[in-house]
Amino acid sequence: MVSNTVDLNAKIPNNVGLSDDVKLQRALEKWLPSYLEWWNDMGPSDFAQKNVYLRTAVSVDNDGWAHYDYVKMPDYRWGIFLNPRQEESLIRCGDDAGKAAWHEVPGEHRNALRRIIVTQADTEPASVEQQRLLGHTAPSLYDMRNLFQVNVEEGRHLWAMVYLLHKYFGRDGRDEADMLLERRSGDPDKPRILGAFNQPCDHWLSFFAFTMFTDRDGKYQLAALAQSGFDPLARTTEFMLTEEAHHLFVGETGMDRIVKRSAELQRLDPNGDVRNQGGIDFDLIQRTINYWYTYSLDLFGGEISSNAADFFATGLKGRYREDKYEEHRALGGTYRLPVVEDGRLSERDVPMRNAMNEVLRDAYVHDCERALRKWNRTLEEAGSPTRLALPSRRFHRHQGIYADHAFDPTGNLITKDQFEQRRHEWVLTPSDNDYLLSIMKASHEPGKFANWIAPPTRGIEGQPIDFEYVQLRD
Ligand SMILES: [Fe+2]
Ligand SMILES: [Fe+2]
Repeated sequence: MVSNTVDLNAKIPNNVGLSDDVKLQRALEKWLPSYLEWWNDMGPSDFAQKNVYLRTAVSVDNDGWAHYDYVKMPDYRWGIFLNPRQEESLIRCGDDAGKAAWHEVPGEHRNALRRIIVTQADTEPASVEQQRLLGHTAPSLYDMRNLFQVNVEEGRHLWAMVYLLHKYFGRDGRDEADMLLERRSGDPDKPRILGAFNQPCDHWLSFFAFTMFTDRDGKYQLAALAQSGFDPLARTTEFMLTEEAHHLFVGETGMDRIVKRSAELQRLDPNGDVRNQGGIDFDLIQRTINYWYTYSLDLFGGEISSNAADFFATGLKGRYREDKYEEHRALGGTYRLPVVEDGRLSERDVPMRNAMNEVLRDAYVHDCERALRKWNRTLEEAGSPTRLALPSRRFHRHQGIYADHAFDPTGNLITKDQFEQRRHEWVLTPSDNDYLLSIMKASHEPGKFANWIAPPTRGIEGQPIDFEYVQLRD
């Protein structure tokens, strides 16, 4: 039974009564060494012996769920935590909205649910792999700690999903759990499942853009799964969202601090040339936004999708904040969507259920627009004339109805040749990456920050900014 009390002394900390289910406990304890082997091979390189000021989940209560202390990452207490739910849980959307939620996997939804869980689970280790080398070029101890915090929590999210696979999907689930440790981000022979999670993330501008845009996709996917009629999935993802909020904070404020610093350097330079001052110029920031935002848009799936309609109809996946909607069946109504027909853009009305991916993408886009407004306020306050923008959601897409066409950043249909000619102006290029790597020199002194980023406004958990967030000295 899920409870508020967490068994912290167990080999695998949990609030799911693991010790009462010996078979499951044994299976997960068998998975544990494979997980640690994966962490040692593919997790943050070279900092395993260092003390990091990390938060660890120790409870599922809203207040005081986390404990902060120095931990060596391989000793992190990865655990299985589900949100307890007081009231009787109900299916929240689709044809059976209002009926009792499922506490076991219904046979007819078994394949779909397994696919949903595996796809979500796969992103967790993937991002750890993508970020593996970033510790070496951290712009400060504060940022290095945040990177490692994100990494260990993605590891815990993998545990959360593996628990579901082991407990509810039998032999298939155990096989899937093993395969989650076998795929590798960017490996052409055994890639991670989703495109964005195979893209290289080899410097900190991409790290911040990734946690801003790609982790934020995760937030909306988890929020949709938190509405699931499969109750254990809903409660697992609810607790993951609690941790995920920090990852989004790291990305959004990281980008904001870069924007702030670039504006300072722009003012300092006689020609307003940020790069001349060793900083990150705004065109490059814009190309990075364009790159990660569009790869993240792909993660929501096709604009017109019978899968999305099925997931909603069967109550497997809801909308963002389903409880804010008055009507949970979405049988009537249509969604108006720009489509390419006969070589030009026109509009089509799609039945609402088939547009559920687009409805979720809307919530995400609004959230990203909010962050952009914030960064532009930072620019305004710094007296910079520059403004940043999100590209059209049709631009640079690899999934969905726009993927076979080319668009400029404002969403105008162009030819593929025209796109290729201007690609280097619009999305991150190899030479951008070379430049970024050339300026990313580690800054290891407490309270000191690399030249290309401003310090944060405050430290972590009441600690000062110059706190020794990672103890690098032996
Ligand atoms: Fe995660
Ligand atoms: Fe995350």
